[in-house]
Amino acid sequence: MVAVPEQGLRLSHPLEPLSADEVVRACAILREQRPLGPRTRVVSVSLHEPPKEVVLGYTPGAAFEREAFIVLIDSEARKTYEAVVSLTRGEVVRWEHIPDVQPAIVLDEFFECEAAVRADPRWQEAMRKRGVTDFDLAMVDPWSAGNFGIEDEKGRRLSRTLTWIRRAPNDNGYARPIENLITVVDLNEMKVIAVEDGEVVPLPPEDANYSPEAAGTRNDLKPIEIRQPEGPSFQVDGHEVRWQKWRLRLGFNPREGLVLYTVSYNDQGQERPILYRASIVDMVVPYGDPRPAYFRRNAFDVGEYGIGNLANQLVNGCDCLGEIYYFDAVINDSRGGAITLKNAICMHEEDYGILWKHYDWRTDYTEVRRSRRLVISFIATVGNYEYGFYWYFYQDGTIQLEVKLTGIISNGAAKPGERPKWGELVAPQVYGPNHQHFFCARLDMMVDGLNNSVYEVNSVADPPGPENPYQNAFHAEATLLARESEAQRVIDPFSGRYWKVVNPSKTNRLGQPVAYKLVPGENVLPFLGPDSPVLKRAGFMTKHLWVTRYDRNEKYAAGDYPNQHPGGEGLPKYVQANRPLDNTEVVVWYTFGAHHIPRPEDWPVMPVASIGFHLKPVGFFERNPGLDVPPTSPVHGANCHNGHSG
Ligand code: NI
Repeated sequence: MVAVPEQGLRLSHPLEPLSADEVVRACAILREQRPLGPRTRVVSVSLHEPPKEVVLGYTPGAAFEREAFIVLIDSEARKTYEAVVSLTRGEVVRWEHIPDVQPAIVLDEFFECEAAVRADPRWQEAMRKRGVTDFDLAMVDPWSAGNFGIEDEKGRRLSRTLTWIRRAPNDNGYARPIENLITVVDLNEMKVIAVEDGEVVPLPPEDANYSPEAAGTRNDLKPIEIRQPEGPSFQVDGHEVRWQKWRLRLGFNPREGLVLYTVSYNDQGQERPILYRASIVDMVVPYGDPRPAYFRRNAFDVGEYGIGNLANQLVNGCDCLGEIYYFDAVINDSRGGAITLKNAICMHEEDYGILWKHYDWRTDYTEVRRSRRLVISFIATVGNYEYGFYWYFYQDGTIQLEVKLTGIISNGAAKPGERPKWGELVAPQVYGPNHQHFFCARLDMMVDGLNNSVYEVNSVADPPGPENPYQNAFHAEATLLARESEAQRVIDPFSGRYWKVVNPSKTNRLGQPVAYKLVPGENVLPFLGPDSPVLKRAGFMTKHLWVTRYDRNEKYAAGDYPNQHPGGEGLPKYVQANRPLDNTEVVVWYTFGAHHIPRPEDWPVMPVASIGFHLKPVGFFERNPGLDVPPTSPVHGANCHNGHSG
């Protein structure tokens, strides 16, 4: 029986996420030592991660410095500050005003913004024009404003809100968008500065409720139970996880949510590192409708809101099923307090079909193994949409990231008989604009050591000729991505393209450098023109693969402060130095886009759509690393080894 320690019995480690006490203490130290204005909001408090050498050189029990990284906005002075607070020494070690940026929108601003809009007479008048008089039933969603080069908006902290209306408190309000009504709010003043009220479009006629009472339930499902009578096969120490031969650490912060650290695999007694750090560092959802009510929709859900702030508290049997281990997550509130999200991270094992099989038909003998995967996940709700982030670890050395998209599509109301060009009707008079969801995973690779190189591998057909008389020959060509300018690539499914991260100083028994490859999944490019403001702000979208030389300060694909930023930050800037990439510390950034032409089946709640990628060993192991997975017991006395009588 495996003992899983209670939450709270944490072993100390430099990468442990900040505890609630540490969040509160860091803010208290800052407040004591720096003059914070009365209207200062704490945007985020997260672990100021120690340098790699500190982490990798750490021995249990040794002393280490504990620091918090804090972003604040003084709403009155309209200034953004960054601070690093040493919890070990009880002092502020860095305090810096960051000019001309807008940090992420904080949760309090959402609520205050909604209240400000509801109270605004111009908005109320616009609602009355549409036959709405009970303003308590309105849902006002504050959207980030983006940056479209509009002079009046410069230097202001803005949200542009969209309104929907419920028919009753528990009604799905997204069924009834208030078309052509946008309210612009200055979040620093918390004041409505403009109401953009266009043509009145009738509210769509149908409800779109999805409770069992409203939707009805089928009655032909028998129970399914996932039981692990001896408990799960993983062990947990604080935020360190060991599962079979895998070993890794989890982190969580308000901006990125779940972070994986120091992922390694124990291969024949040797701990072999693969990844130093992995997370989704940004995402953006550009919408494809050019009309005034739509072109601004392009949320950066990580950088503009903080996807960790929006994490759900999960429930066993609902969000995850089986023998679940939950990690709580700690985020901050805007006053410097701590919020503990119970059960924010779910970890469990799943049966995943077969791992491998062969039936020897001459001897009627079978060997087959079940595949088991470890799942570590969290789900965030961003207004109308849900994103689930699932990391999987497999017994054959594979790592996978799957993003699950669900929730309610961002929509609008169409006039009766209208068929908009830039999207689809999903229900009578309910319009879903075309859009895409781009995610960027930052993978700080460490394949058998810190110094790695990245190759692109394409399969190429040989030309016809004496060596290829029947024109069947093809071979794989590996090309070193030697500098950052060469390491900006897109997928090519027709050449079976993948990217291989190798350790040139470590070879396997076949004399090849050990490697992991990044295998793209479904992907797409943006449809944005070269001068599109959102493309400038999210230049990372234009390439699926970027490789950079490691720099501790280069953390986010769209830069540190994408909210209302004019653009050019992040990856396009990081690669300007065109640093050499061969046999050095490399960071692989993979952008993957989900293309969404809405369907009626996406309404009223979208069934999960999945997108992601795999990291797979290539010559990292000597042979199939899952060969030693033990056979399972057959059910009902059958024999797994006999192909015909089982
Ligand atoms: Ni979508």
